[in-house]
Formats: sequence, structure tokens, C-alpha cells
Amino acid sequence: MAQRTTVVVLAAGEGTRMKSALPKVLHCIAAKPMVAHVLAAARACGADRLALVAGPGREDVAAAARQIAPGISVFTQHERRGTAHAVLAARDAFAKGENVLVLFGDTPLLRPESLRELRAALSGAAVAVLGFRAKNPRGYGRLLTENGKLVAIREENDATEAERAVDLCNAGVMALAGKHALSLLSAIDNRNRKQEFYLTDAVALAVSRNLGAAVIEAPEEEVMGVNDRKQLSEAEAVLQKRLRDAAMDAGVTLTAPETVFLSADTKFGRDVVVEPNVVFGPGVTIGDNVTIRAFSHLEGATVGSNARVGPFARLRPGAKLAAEVHIGNFVEVKEATLGKGAKANHLAYIGDASVGEGTNIGAGTITCNYDGKNKHRTEIGNRAFIGTNSSLVAPVKIGDRAYIGSGSVIVADVPADALALGRGRQFVKKDWAKQQAQGSKNGSKQKKAAPAKQKTGNKSAKRKAAKLGKKGRKR
Ligand code: UD1
Ligand code: MG
Repeated sequence: MAQRTTVVVLAAGEGTRMKSALPKVLHCIAAKPMVAHVLAAARACGADRLALVAGPGREDVAAAARQIAPGISVFTQHERRGTAHAVLAARDAFAKGENVLVLFGDTPLLRPESLRELRAALSGAAVAVLGFRAKNPRGYGRLLTENGKLVAIREENDATEAERAVDLCNAGVMALAGKHALSLLSAIDNRNRKQEFYLTDAVALAVSRNLGAAVIEAPEEEVMGVNDRKQLSEAEAVLQKRLRDAAMDAGVTLTAPETVFLSADTKFGRDVVVEPNVVFGPGVTIGDNVTIRAFSHLEGATVGSNARVGPFARLRPGAKLAAEVHIGNFVEVKEATLGKGAKANHLAYIGDASVGEGTNIGAGTITCNYDGKNKHRTEIGNRAFIGTNSSLVAPVKIGDRAYIGSGSVIVADVPADALALGRGRQFVKKDWAKQQAQGSKNGSKQKKAAPAKQKTGNKSAKRKAAKLGKKGRKR
């Protein structure tokens, strides 16, 4: 049987520089917590078991980890005594001689490919380290080599001037061969400036025991750690670029990629066109040949093939559009399904509803889904026609092919094939305007008398009424 691997994610740091009530590893990039990115990379590199080390009392981190990766073993590091000490808090997860891969919860951009390479390097060494060439090495552990071979990692605090000049740095990711992991980790002491148990000391120990140490180099961008909100935004930018590139590689046209924001889980079909300034929140799936027009916001939505969305459309969680649906400007859809070819082209709210195939939702249509306490559903059949500016007061059902007259307030079910009108009847007074005009010519007395009839007490109110009266006549 192939050697099994346990990934141990360290997340017991305090993350004080985030200045946040939320633990650092739960801050999101591309709409997903950093620790979820790390766990996804761990899974994708083929780990057999996942473990996470959280700080004392961090039930929120533990709960999130269990939700992201059911089956993960969560351990508590009761005192923050260094990275080796933290790994040993999870020793039960590799007690059967599994290889150990140590990752940091705040290093979210790691690619599974690099982790696989690192694991593979264990075939010739007891310890393998992910290194990178740092533009500015300050603060990082330096990888010290002799004749091209890794011999030690020196933390900045303990490094000599010459060692500090080295730009090959420790990314913090380390693989330890199962046969030696526990013995090496247990031998690490805390004789250093910070009096911490440094995981990095495993390298010199392995070399002194002739077990061998190896380095795998990764691009700096991939190993970037997040300590504050600025670095969080930098990591976001790197990830957005990756996601946009991946979408374009898969056949999506992004007219202005730098203005489109994606989530880690955004799914596209082929020949999708995304115009500028579109935001994809979590949980969006887009079918083939869909156009998402400019300034739209989508979240938790499914869009069928050949559909058209936007400009300025908002799809909220639970929006499910079948093929060929058109959603136009200033239309909001929430928790609603729209059947094939249904259209809502302008200014509408469709919430807690089902809309049948080929149904047309006129401009200004509102599903009145909320009565102040509960949400209710609106069910509209196939090929129905909802006239403009209609309010559909839920719960309500509108049958197939039914017509709703413009401006209706629909409070009761409408059967199939029926016409429903729910509005004031139009009243026409013939020649009314002409009579008004003549009346004002005939006597200015009448004109002055009119406001006096108002039952308003104070003078300014009277003046206002007079003005309104004038305006009314002008029309
Ligand atoms: C560490 C490395 C350094 C490397 C750098 C890369 C060590 C000793 N040093 O330094 O070589 O260049 O990362 O970013 O490993 N943690 C715990 N418990 C602890 C201490 C740390 O869980 O007791 C966790 C932190 O939450 C964090 C990670 O371990 O996720 C790294 O700790 P941190 O204090 O940031 O180490 P650095 O000084 O950055
Ligand atoms: Mg750090």
C-alpha cells in the first residue's frame, strides 16, 4: 500500500494584525474562507487525512473546519509555543507513521501541484521544504544550503548578517516522512531568541542524522501569507487573476477581465460572454452561450443555456433560470424559478415564485411575497402575460395563458386562460378640460373663490392649495 499522508493545517495564531473579531483564517478571498482554500489544496494533492490545529477556545474555527471538510480532526494547541509544538498537538493524526504535510491556514494561494511535488520529494529525503525567492526576504526563515543541498533553516531573529543576505526563503510548507516525523519533531528544542519550538529546526536535525532534506521552489505569489487587510486584498487580486484566466482558458469571453469579480466556485459553460463590471458571488452556475451584460450582480444563482442577463440585473440566492430566459435591467430575482424562454425585461421583483415557460413579466411587476411576518409564494403558469405595473399579492396562483391587465393588484388566484383586471375603472368626463378653460376666462372671481372653499386654516396652506389648483388646470 502506498504511504499515507496526513495534512496538518496550523491555525492557532492570533491574527491580531487583522484587527478583527473574526479569526484570521475565516476571512474570505474569492468568497471562500482562507482556510477553505488551504483545505481544498490539501484534498486536491491527494492527502488521506486532514487535521487542523486551532487556538484555545476557537470553537468558531473548529466548526468552520468541520463544515468545510467533514471528517477533519481538529486539535487544540493550548499554549502558543511555536510551529513544531503546534504540529505535535495533532500527533494523534499521524501516529500510525503517516507522512506529514504541514500547511499554514493563512497561506491560501498554494497550488496542489506544488504540494504534490513536495510529497514526491520525500522519496529521497526525510524532510522537504517549499522555498521561494523573496523580493524582500525580511521576516522569513532563510534556507541555508551547502553545495546546493539544504542543510538548515535559520529564522530571521537568529540569523547572521551573511545568512540574512540569502533570498531563498521558507514558505512555511513542510513535508516530513512518516518513518521519522515523530522522532524529529520530538527532538526539536526551544533554544532560540523567541524560545519557541521551531518546525524549521527539523531540517538541521534530519541532516545531522543523515536522513536528507530537499527544497522545492515555488513562485513567491503562491506562498504569500496574509497577516493584515492589505495582504488580504493582495491575495484577493492574485486569486481573481487566476480565476479570470481559468475562465478564459475554458472558453469564456471576459470583455474587461479586470472588472469582473469571481468566486472560487463560479462555474461557466462554453461561449459565455461576460461584459464589464459583473460580480459573481458564491454559488453561481452559468450554462452555455449565456451573455451576462454589464453591471450585474449574481449570487447563488443558476442560469440556463442561451439565457441573457442584465445589464444591471440582480440574481439572488435561489434564482434558477431555465434556457433562453431573458432578465433585463433593474430586475431582481430571488428564490424563484423561471421556465424556458420566460422574460422579465425591465424593472421587476420576482421573489419566492415560479414562472412558467414562455411567460412574459411586464415592466414594474412586483411579487408581494412578504406580509411583514412570513414569505409567501407566487405561482405563474406557462405562457401567461403579466401586464406592466402589476402587484401579485402572494400567496397567489396565475394559470397557464392567463392575462393580467396592467396596473392590477392581484389578490386572488386567476384560472388558466382568464383575463384578470384588478384596478380602478377608468372614468372619462367629456369636454371637461374645455369647460375648465372657459370657466377661467369668464370670471376671475370664480378663480379666486376656489381656494377659499378649501377647509384649510392657515394662509400658507391656502396659498399651496391655490398653486396646486392652477397646476391641475394647466394639464
Ligand atoms: C514561519 C516560519 C518561517 C517562514 C514563515 C513563512 C517557523 C519557525 N518559521 O515564520 O521560516 O519563512 O513562517 O510565512 O516555522 N502557529 C501556530 N502555533 C504556534 C505558532 C504558529 O499554530 O505556536 C501557526 C500560525 O497560526 C501560522 C503559522 O503557524 O499559521 C506560522 O506562524 P507564524 O508565527 O506566522 O510564523 P512566522 O514567524 O511567520
Ligand atoms: Mg507568519
